[in-house]
Amino acid sequence: MLKFRCNNLLVTGGSGFIGSNFINYVLNKYNEVKIYNLDDLTYAGDKSNTNAFKENRRYNFIKGNICDSNLLHEIFKKYKIDGVINFAAESHVDNSIENPNIFVNTNILGVFELLKAACNFWMDKNYDYKEEFKNSRFHQISTDEVYGSIDVGSFTEADKYKPNSPYSASKASADMLVRSFNKTYGLNTTVSISSNNFGINQNDEKLIPKILNCLKTNSEIPIYGNGSNSRDWIFVEDNCSAIDLIFNCAKSGEEYNIASGNELTNLELVSLISEIMLIEYKINFVSDRLGHDFRYSLNTEKIKKDLGWFPTNEFKISLKNYINQQINKK
Ligand SMILES: NC(=O)c1ccc[n+]([C@@H]2O[C@H](COP(=O)([O-])OP(=O)(O)OC[C@H]3O[C@@H](n4cnc5c(N)ncnc54)[C@H](O)[C@@H]3O)[C@@H](O)[C@H]2O)c1
Repeated sequence: MLKFRCNNLLVTGGSGFIGSNFINYVLNKYNEVKIYNLDDLTYAGDKSNTNAFKENRRYNFIKGNICDSNLLHEIFKKYKIDGVINFAAESHVDNSIENPNIFVNTNILGVFELLKAACNFWMDKNYDYKEEFKNSRFHQISTDEVYGSIDVGSFTEADKYKPNSPYSASKASADMLVRSFNKTYGLNTTVSISSNNFGINQNDEKLIPKILNCLKTNSEIPIYGNGSNSRDWIFVEDNCSAIDLIFNCAKSGEEYNIASGNELTNLELVSLISEIMLIEYKINFVSDRLGHDFRYSLNTEKIKKDLGWFPTNEFKISLKNYINQQINKK
């Protein structure tokens, strides 16, 4: 039987897109771990994203904010939390341009509070791990945007962070805090840095759901600039399997890139989805996003070599399945 690294896992942001897919993945794969989902249900969180597992006796929902240190203290104590995976974030770049404040609060200060809570609960005054928490780990979910844009080639984990938006700068700052807690206090940490995800439960504001909705309603698809910006797309279940492997098997202090190598310009993506849906598309080219990164690309040799991870879902098949699910949903 497969054994999860901890017994009482705190998943933050589990009512959002990737967090809800991850909880489903873990509850289906493992028989023992209990999951506590702390989510503030912002506009991006949706309780219905947890419908697939909300009745599972190993699942618990707690409404609350990761910046609330008193609440974190209570949760760690009450549920004997011995593992944390932090998905909670403000995640939409456009919103970070309009209102960066909340990105600094949740994505930086929230992570800081979570790190402090884990240290306080798992370690003694000398920063030695208490015996019962010796396997405890803090995993941070990061993004390829922390490296900034790259015209040719791919970023490795050894490359410098050069974030360009308030969103990516807040995520990069969080990764630095995680690193500092690892180096200074010896907190057991890992970080996963993934490319653009797609799959069920993704908010309508994101590119693929937006394209789908425009095609369904026969409206123009708004595309930034001339549509040549390029992104690497990964099916969310492949990201979940990588996070699972890193959390359970990686060495403390490690960071891993996660991507599938399915690189498309935004125009190519629109064309592919319209081909799958058999609906012709109309595009409205809108003024480019401020500071818009041209291309993201991740080198994934490290996770393949160290942990033997590889994506198992073929891109076009999973995209097609996802689109069919969405069409049948409404
Ligand atoms: N979606 C992608 O393509 C992608 C790619 C790379 C990395 N990421 C990262 O993955 C993580 C999850 O992304 P997502 O797309 O699922 O995001 P999402 O916006 O769908 O979900 C975020 C969740 O966090 C919750 N939340 C926000 N602020 C909170 C707070 N202060 N306290 C508690 N809960 C809060 C929201 O209610 C929501 O349920 C994020 O850290 C994001 O940066 C996402």
